[in-house]
Amino acid sequence: MSKKIRFGIIGCGLMGREFGSAVARWCHLTEEVAKPEIVGVCDRNTTATAWFTDNFDTVRYVTDDYKELLQKEDIDAIYCALPHNLHAKVYSDIIRAGKHLLGEKPFGIDFEANAEILKAIEENPDVIVRCASEFPFFPACQELIRWIKEDKFGKIIEVRAGFKHSSDMDLTKPINWKRMIEINGEYGCMGDLGIHTQHVPFHVGWTPKNVYAVLSNIATQRPDGKGGVVPCKTWDNATLVCDATDKKGNEFAMVFETKRMSPGSTDEWYIEVDGLDASAKFNSNDPNAFMYTQAVGKEQAWCRLNIGYKPQFKTITGGIFEFGFTDAILQMWCSFMKEVSGEEVAFGCFTPEETLLSHKLLTAALKSNKEKRVVVLDEVK
Ligand SMILES: NC(=O)c1ccc[n+]([C@@H]2O[C@H](COP(=O)([O-])OP(=O)(O)OC[C@H]3O[C@@H](n4cnc5c(N)ncnc54)[C@H](O)[C@@H]3O)[C@@H](O)[C@H]2O)c1
Repeated sequence: MSKKIRFGIIGCGLMGREFGSAVARWCHLTEEVAKPEIVGVCDRNTTATAWFTDNFDTVRYVTDDYKELLQKEDIDAIYCALPHNLHAKVYSDIIRAGKHLLGEKPFGIDFEANAEILKAIEENPDVIVRCASEFPFFPACQELIRWIKEDKFGKIIEVRAGFKHSSDMDLTKPINWKRMIEINGEYGCMGDLGIHTQHVPFHVGWTPKNVYAVLSNIATQRPDGKGGVVPCKTWDNATLVCDATDKKGNEFAMVFETKRMSPGSTDEWYIEVDGLDASAKFNSNDPNAFMYTQAVGKEQAWCRLNIGYKPQFKTITGGIFEFGFTDAILQMWCSFMKEVSGEEVAFGCFTPEETLLSHKLLTAALKSNKEKRVVVLDEVK
């Protein structure tokens, strides 16, 4: 039988439950990998923890005080999915308690908060810490990543990555914590969606050097859900244009788009790579499709490969079937479990060093938008 790693969950909301669901169908994986076991749950909302106690007979500890879970010797690792204003304190405490951590983005509400978390990691080098991001685990995106690693694109012309939603275009949608600066952070949509767009580029060594940012606050007020209206100050849409370099120092253009007001988009995550030898793209709207170009004489034709269910980590599902969001979550978790077990993975979760680069980019983007100029990332310290 495979090894078990005992988990505590801090924050049992939308994402906490996704982890629970992945654990519940761990048998879906045929990969040799340690199994997560949920032994403790923490949330201040008892309905949220009740979902876990109702569905998992492994849960021994239920609390509204996360420090209680950190004191337990029979908890090896924590998944933490809390609002952004709590990341710095709670993530640092988890790491200092010697528990492995899969934390959620943006990994600190701002640059200073991220620095606090990174300091705790530096002081505890034996603890494995990663940031959640699941979309790159779609098989068609994995194929695109293989093309990058195999250098199939030749000289890169431009890379575009984005994550877009449209539900905020409904101006009657009440405000929630993800639209409040004090809880979500000044980054707004960039903090919420940015790391998802940066995962593939940063992981393959494509680094933004500078940024020109256009940020828009389109809905300046929202219903408060109690019959009133309150100001809504977070950025709804962001477009970041960067000069980037690859590992060999070649320069190219890189564009990141994070939008909550994108007509027609529902959880639309994409990456597009244009190169002189070939181009390719993946869009979660069409999750089975790996799109790539083939040269026809001096011209390029777009081809579509229906990739099927061919993920990085093996499962019971036949290769002819389709892959979805919850499958991507399971693959991300498998990757994290392998990394916690000291195994190398072909493509892993977002690393703490990458969260630092992310915070430099987003902090530079805020400055760029404010001062209406290109900001070099090295200016952010
Ligand atoms: N990976 C993804 O695709 C993805 C998607 C959505 C959100 N997220 C991230 O996950 C994190 C959580 O987001 P969510 O959508 O699950 O939020 P959520 O609001 O659904 O859940 C947060 C939970 O934290 C609990 N909580 C808040 N303050 C607490 C405290 N002081 N002590 C204990 N519990 C507390 C709330 O009661 C709630 O149940 C955020 O960092 C967010 O950016 C990631």
